[in-house]
Formats: sequence, C-alpha cells, structure tokens
Amino acid sequence: MKKVSIIYWSCGGNIEFLANIMADGAREQGAEVNVKHVADATINDVLDADAVAFGSPAVDSTKIEQEEMKPFLEQLKNLSDKNKNKDCILFATYGWIENTFMEIWKNEMTSYGFNVIGDLAVKESPTKNQVEFVKELGKQLAK
Ligand SMILES: Cc1cc2nc3c(=O)[nH]c(=O)nc-3n(C[C@H](O)[C@H](O)[C@H](O)COP(=O)(O)O)c2cc1C
Repeated sequence: MKKVSIIYWSCGGNIEFLANIMADGAREQGAEVNVKHVADATINDVLDADAVAFGSPAVDSTKIEQEEMKPFLEQLKNLSDKNKNKDCILFATYGWIENTFMEIWKNEMTSYGFNVIGDLAVKESPTKNQVEFVKELGKQLAK
C-alpha cells in the first residue's frame, strides 16, 4: 500500500479543506494517508512517505507561509538525496496576487530533489471544479 503524507498550514480553513479533499482522493485510490498541520508534522512524515503534498496560503505577495511552513520545508534542503524524485504535489490559496509564487515554490521544491507532479493555486475558497481537481490530485499521489 502506498504511503502518502499531506502536510499543510492553514489559519482560515481554506487550505485545510483542500488537504482533506486530497486525502479522500488518495484514500479512494487505496493509499495509507497521513494528513497533518505542519505544526504537528515531523520530517519523518516526509521521509517515510512514498509521495507527499504540501499546502500553504500565499502571504507577503510571493511567499508561502513563513513562520512554520517555510522553516519546515527548508529542513528538506539538506535531505535531497533521501527525497530524490519523490512525487510531490503543491497546493495553495491566495487572496489577491496571481499565482507567481507557485512557480517560485515549484522551483524550490524541485531543487530539494522532489518530482513535482501537480499543483493548484485557488483564489480563497475552491470552486466545485477545483474541489474535483484536488481530489484527482490526491488520486495521482496514490498511484
Ligand atoms: C497574514 C496574511 C497575509 C496574506 N498575504 C497575502 C498576499 O500577500 N497575497 C495574497 O494573495 N493573499 C494573501 N493572504 C490571503 C491568503 O492567502 C488567503 O486568505 C488564504 O485563502 C488563506 O488560507 P487559509 O484559509 O487556509 O488560512 C494573506 C493572508 C494572511 C492571513
């Protein structure tokens, strides 16, 4: 059974909602799913998983959440050999910027060794189509 970890930061609940939908998709595909707020996650949640997803809102225009998510992900920089080519999905919400930060984030995770297989940036709350898409992304993680 494939092990999937979905690690996110959320305050208002939009990212948390997307994380749970993605988890449903991965479970439907038969994966063992570990979904955690980054405050409760450890690096082992990433190392032990066959595939991972990270979710964050945009803050400060071009960045992911800086207090918890950014430092958590930075730890992965030195572990690129252990995560080499591990499938990874990035999902985000934003209030007013367009999704330039997603390109920056994708490049960063690729430089940490991950194989970014999908991404989604949602303006505040997801539309019905975006909810379906995020569930599909969960299924992709589990394949
Ligand atoms: C402190 C803070 C800073 C934010 N900065 C930005 C920003 O620079 N650009 C943007 O588009 N949205 C910004 N937002 C909006 C969030 O990305 C958006 O509300 C998101 O849906 C919040 O996700 P959540 O409900 O999971 O917490 C900011 C929100 C907060 C709370």
